[in-house]
Amino acid sequence: PVIYVLNGPNLNLLGEREPEIYGHETLADVQAICERAAGDARVVFRQSNHEGELIDWIHEARRDGSVLVLNPAGYGHTSVALLDALKTLTIPIVECHLSNPAARERFRHRSYVSPVAAGIVSGFGPFSYELAIQAALRLIRPSRE
Ligand code: DQA
Repeated sequence: PVIYVLNGPNLNLLGEREPEIYGHETLADVQAICERAAGDARVVFRQSNHEGELIDWIHEARRDGSVLVLNPAGYGHTSVALLDALKTLTIPIVECHLSNPAARERFRHRSYVSPVAAGIVSGFGPFSYELAIQAALRLIRPSRE
């Protein structure tokens, strides 16, 4: 089983980008947190600013036994194409956000990902990813926990 951790646009600038909202840790720090939290499970950690590339990676994740942790970033609020790609998956999806979009501007309240997610973690900064990985492990190995 593989834990795919896919990150949407602008998350490559984590640490520099609106640090009062997203904090000072970089995406490399977040990746390290995910890899540590996953233990011996394999993590495929990626980021793209391009909707189509994210969709290609979602198609790649269509493997039995895998799980997808997705921070769709801005595309979560806008992308029907991303939703359609997610609908082709049979593997579970954990939606993950650094901030809590529900506590922010109205246009962030709508998520095209949430209706197809097994669950959502948001608002805890990089710790959201640690929690999302814990959830992913539980979804991969339900009997162990
Ligand atoms: C985000 C929240 C989104 O509203 C925003 O567009 C992002 C990051 C988060 O992780 O808090 O780019 O997904």
